[in-house]
Amino acid sequence: MPVQWHASIPSAELASEDCDVFWMRRCLQLAQRGLGGASPNPLVGCVIVNKAGKLIGEGFHAKAGEAHAEVDALRQVCEAQELGYLGADDLKGATVYVNLEPCCHTGKTGPCTDALKEAGIGTVVCGTLDPNPLVSGQGRDALQRAQISVRVGVLEEECAELNCVFFHAMTTRKPYVTLKLAATLDGRLGPRQSAWMTSDMARQEVHQLRSYSDAILTTANTVFSDNPRLTVREGLVGKNPNVRQPLRVVLDRHNRLEAMPHCHVLDTAEAPTLRVVGSGVMVSHIDDAFLVVADTGTGLDLTQLMTGLCERGVTSVWVEAGGTLAGSLLDAQLVNRLKLYTPPLILGDTSTPPMISGRLCGNLSQAIGWNVLNRYTLENTSVLDATPIYPA
Ligand SMILES: NC(=O)c1ccc[n+]([C@@H]2O[C@H](COP(=O)([O-])OP(=O)(O)OC[C@H]3O[C@@H](n4cnc5c(N)ncnc54)[C@H](OP(=O)(O)O)[C@@H]3O)[C@@H](O)[C@H]2O)c1
Repeated sequence: MPVQWHASIPSAELASEDCDVFWMRRCLQLAQRGLGGASPNPLVGCVIVNKAGKLIGEGFHAKAGEAHAEVDALRQVCEAQELGYLGADDLKGATVYVNLEPCCHTGKTGPCTDALKEAGIGTVVCGTLDPNPLVSGQGRDALQRAQISVRVGVLEEECAELNCVFFHAMTTRKPYVTLKLAATLDGRLGPRQSAWMTSDMARQEVHQLRSYSDAILTTANTVFSDNPRLTVREGLVGKNPNVRQPLRVVLDRHNRLEAMPHCHVLDTAEAPTLRVVGSGVMVSHIDDAFLVVADTGTGLDLTQLMTGLCERGVTSVWVEAGGTLAGSLLDAQLVNRLKLYTPPLILGDTSTPPMISGRLCGNLSQAIGWNVLNRYTLENTSVLDATPIYPA
């Protein structure tokens, strides 16, 4: 059933820039409904407002391969027209708001610019241009050539932030890496095979954030130590039909998992697993379940790993491993985001692993600074959400 057909902006006196901001905020809200489903595509929401300022259609991109947000919103308008809720002319000269520039190429679906032209849209307001080289200003140009007026840059920062994963993958050809760590107040990861140290709410958030990622990265060390499942649980699967089980990626430089065939990550009934082995390692049969990466002598080449994952369509990686991998990822400046969960505990035991180890940090000038995006508590666990400021 169509919703909000008669919704209009709160005040007819709003200036056009304020209307742009108002509707773009709604696009950002709608776009988030694609979390966990849209990848490797961006999160996009779309709103259509008729010439009288009334909201006539909304849409979002739910899943790669399915309708883009603009087409979803146009479809909603057409359905309402067929049911007689809207007049045949409501799309003529209407304004389309969308947080990302409409595409102008044929991928799994046709160009959105064509759909907007055919619908008789008068104006398109975008949050940002699309960094995809196949679009990148060409969507805007195609609309302008069709006499559609285009405004770009409304809530540009928020729109780019919402799609930080897509923007990062498109511009660097590497996935956006989030390092998740759960550590005590004295920076320890907790004794081997210990139960979750953090609160239930923190655990639920971790499962939610896993489900938004294309891949979960761990190591054979962590598998031997904890035998984790690294799947999305906590009642999330089934609640949202678009929730997928991310690809589990295990750094297994020397193919040690061969000696642990019954570990949870090798049970692929629930979720797929990719084993990353070093070049030169003898594996009885290499298939799609393996990725071979150069061995630097001290570990696997993590930059090559990230490039290889991106080539396989992985745009975001959630890291759940120990302090050694965390240190190496930070040294290679591959971490884009930190989620640090700290329960109110002190172990005071130097035999338990530290949350970061092995960083080649000689002095304070080589320390990594953090730009704090958010700090909050989930029951007894405090959470730091931050992006790194790497030393030059
Ligand atoms: N609290 C948490 O958030 C959390 C999450 C997961 C794990 N843990 C804990 O972390 C502990 C394991 O930590 P850990 O430091 O021993 O192991 P880790 O960081 O999980 O794994 C390190 C291992 O990964 C392999 N590796 C391959 N390439 C690498 C590279 N370029 N850089 C770094 N490592 C590379 C190496 O093993 P090879 O030489 O064999 O290749 C290395 O020893 C476990 O006790 C587990 O309980 C805690």
